[in-house]
Amino acid sequence: MTDRIRLDGRVAVVTGAAGVIGTATIRLLAERGARIVAVDRKEADLKAAIKELPVSAEALAIAADVTQEDEVADYVRASVDKFGTIDAFYNNAGIEGDIKPIPQYSLESFRRVLDVNVVGVFLGMKHVLPVMLKQNKGSIINTASIAGLMGSPYIAVYSASKHAVIGLTKTAAWECTGTGVRVNCVCPGLIDSRMLSTIYQGRNGGNAPMPIEKMVDRIPARRLGHASEVASVVAFLASDEASYVTGSSYTVDGGRTAA
Ligand SMILES: NC(=O)c1ccc[n+]([C@@H]2O[C@H](COP(=O)([O-])OP(=O)(O)OC[C@H]3O[C@@H](n4cnc5c(N)ncnc54)[C@H](O)[C@@H]3O)[C@@H](O)[C@H]2O)c1
Repeated sequence: MTDRIRLDGRVAVVTGAAGVIGTATIRLLAERGARIVAVDRKEADLKAAIKELPVSAEALAIAADVTQEDEVADYVRASVDKFGTIDAFYNNAGIEGDIKPIPQYSLESFRRVLDVNVVGVFLGMKHVLPVMLKQNKGSIINTASIAGLMGSPYIAVYSASKHAVIGLTKTAAWECTGTGVRVNCVCPGLIDSRMLSTIYQGRNGGNAPMPIEKMVDRIPARRLGHASEVASVVAFLASDEASYVTGSSYTVDGGRTAA
């Protein structure tokens, strides 16, 4: 499709690639011609996600924990060894943690969420940026959330961690001043996914089906988002079409935060 954003030959590293949004993103980036390095701590799920890619896709799957600096350094090195460069980095792995009010929130879970969502994003940029700065070119896209733009009951640390991702994004964009490296983030809203359903169940104490109609009442688009719709914005930010876009937080939320 010539009228779509193309990423032919570009090397895209995606963390959290075995998850709902990560899997949709590696598929879309591969369809647009990118060579893929898919990173996740869940090896079996990662292999399954890679199998779904178009047969023509060149892809490398790497099992790694984004909170472990040696494993981050290893996946960055392996990407460069295999493909020679990193053009786009989708720094996406994240967890929701406990779904509880602050007085009941365990310190252990608090620290774990910060470790994955903030330290993981930091370490990814720490190790990918030198590769991109050396070639004076590249696009980093971090996954924040609309919970990084507003308060979100029962997921206080998740919300705090996503506010931090936006801060890291803006700061990294400034640190890349005068270079060809751009740093942005996406802020997905209510995406039809396991994570959304887990947060809903945690807030409402049970296994009741999500009342979609009620949930979309405050969304101008009047529906949940699809993971592929987050992937589309990532593809845009990864591409040269976004050449003047850096330091931005792109909401992909059907207008949920437009109020
Ligand atoms: N689903 C939503 O509605 C939604 C909304 C806003 C933001 N987000 C964000 O989007 C991103 C992807 O979410 P998703 O819905 O695909 O969730 P998901 O749980 O389906 O996928 C997350 C993936 O990250 C991986 N991961 C977690 N910890 C890791 C670690 N330490 N090292 C390596 N991999 C690790 C998991 O194994 C999983 O495959 C997350 O950052 C999430 O916070 C999701």
